[in-house]
Amino acid sequence: MKPNFTFNLLRQIARGFCTKPPQIKPKRMEGKTALIAGAATGIGEATARLFAAHGARVVVADVQEAAGERVAAELGNGAEFIRLDVRNEDEMAAAVDRAAAVAAGNVLDVFHYNAGILGAMGPINELRMEEFDHTMSVNLRGAVLGIKHAARVMKPANKGSIVFTGSVASVHGGLGPHCYSISKSAMVGLVRSTAVELRRFGIRVNMVSPDSVATSVLGRALEALEITADSSLGSAERYVESISLLRGHALGVFDVAHAVMFLACEESGYVSGQNLVVDCGNTVSKANDTAPWFTQTLGFIS
Ligand SMILES: NC(=O)c1ccc[n+]([C@@H]2O[C@H](COP(=O)([O-])OP(=O)(O)OC[C@H]3O[C@@H](n4cnc5c(N)ncnc54)[C@H](O)[C@@H]3O)[C@@H](O)[C@H]2O)c1
Repeated sequence: MKPNFTFNLLRQIARGFCTKPPQIKPKRMEGKTALIAGAATGIGEATARLFAAHGARVVVADVQEAAGERVAAELGNGAEFIRLDVRNEDEMAAAVDRAAAVAAGNVLDVFHYNAGILGAMGPINELRMEEFDHTMSVNLRGAVLGIKHAARVMKPANKGSIVFTGSVASVHGGLGPHCYSISKSAMVGLVRSTAVELRRFGIRVNMVSPDSVATSVLGRALEALEITADSSLGSAERYVESISLLRGHALGVFDVAHAVMFLACEESGYVSGQNLVVDCGNTVSKANDTAPWFTQTLGFIS
């Protein structure tokens, strides 16, 4: 056999190997264990349900004990609840250790930091610093504690995926109260900085930034801002439908959960340090939305 022929044959085999379509897994998180901080309600609850439906063992961690226990009991698949106040380092360390302990081979596959509050509202000159501190302690300090301890258990295994819940307020001014926007913008820095360190350990770090989603926190905000008459989920849903940018589809908790799952599992294998914005282009168009002029009128200007 000529050396050239052997080389070409090997090259063809290699090409065939590379172009072979990836195996499609109906259950995308089979065999994985995920810890979700802030999973008792809203987006975190939806993500817990989606992960579990895709075969993951989920550790539901939240400060709301009754709601968290209920979600964990409904998930099945070995799911359990652990009480966690994300501001408390001992509780965060214990939640991460527990999730790693129940994981196959004691390796925590996914950590999702979803806990968040809207926090202090109002003009900057009237900001009460204790409210600033409280908002930052849940939205940012908790996120830092979370990745600190998740990295502690993931580094020895040389693998893991960490996903934070941000907000459109992380990319645009005016889409949330000041402290909230500051905390979610700082989260972008946290994701980028840690993604660079942790990639050497096979660990990816990303965030998902949704637009308004009908959850209890949005309901309370809409009532406080007198946009809706009450804080009910129904009112929040009607509001979200009324501002939807995509014909025939209003942003829902499972849209966000699917984005989180994409970043959590291997399908996003080489994606790290990113802020995946789930807003139907709101933040790429809102500041200067002249698109209707240019897209609805036929013509040519030279
Ligand atoms: N709903 C929206 O419109 C929207 C938009 C963009 C981003 N987000 C973000 O999505 C995430 C989830 O919010 P949601 O809308 O589902 O609201 P939610 O209130 O239903 O969920 C927040 C969860 O975090 C938990 N939590 C709050 N403080 C905690 C603490 N100290 N320790 C542990 N858990 C704590 C709550 O108990 C709750 O389960 C938040 O980070 C929020 O900033 C929400």
